[in-house]
Amino acid sequence: MAVKVAPSILSGDFAKLGKEAERMEKAGADMIHCDVMDGVFVPNLTFGHKMVADIRKHVNIPLDVHLMIVNPEKYLDKYVQSGADRLSFHYEATKQAKDNLVSLKNSGVKAGLAICPDTPAEEIFHLLDFCDFIVVMGVHPGFSGQKYIPTTTEKIRVLHDEILRRKLKVEIEMDGGANESNVKSIASAGVKVMVSGSCAFNSPTPETVISDFRNSDQ
Ligand code: DX5
Ligand code: ZN
Repeated sequence: MAVKVAPSILSGDFAKLGKEAERMEKAGADMIHCDVMDGVFVPNLTFGHKMVADIRKHVNIPLDVHLMIVNPEKYLDKYVQSGADRLSFHYEATKQAKDNLVSLKNSGVKAGLAICPDTPAEEIFHLLDFCDFIVVMGVHPGFSGQKYIPTTTEKIRVLHDEILRRKLKVEIEMDGGANESNVKSIASAGVKVMVSGSCAFNSPTPETVISDFRNSDQ
């Protein structure tokens, strides 16, 4: 089965994000990855729920919203209302991950839990029953264009094995550092959704990057 590809508009031109999302939809993206950063959880600041709602009007494909903010529970409703189809927050940013996941599922969006490179896979095993997907970060969150941390691949394998062992329907999404040379080996560890920031946006032919990423598990 093909890997779904989610270009991250963090690498797009912020003066025209609607158009950038359209460009990726036309190039064959399966969804648009929207990175929300608060300048506290990560050392960078992007945009809030109004931007997500405005991008929503530009494309028909799902919006995959990745919250890198502290106390995400304060804002989950706003992002659900903004038209996110998939919504993830960070395990490291909250004391109530389980409640947040349950509330997201009840709101009708796909509930995702994101983990930073220093968080071991085993630490979130007890939350897998409540997740639709896990975002495994391949870089320290904050910026696009960083180098992939190679130990991420083994972490994906560990998570994938646990998901299979418990017969769960949890998708693994990999976010950060994927490129044409490493995408196949990352995908083979059990990735269902591959985020691509700089690789898709900086290419003169994003349709080729997206199609290569899509076929990376074959
Ligand atoms: C990093 C973001 C990623 C980033 C990926 O904090 O969460 O989504 O945009 O960009 P690349 O693919 O360039 O690493
Ligand atoms: Zn992201």
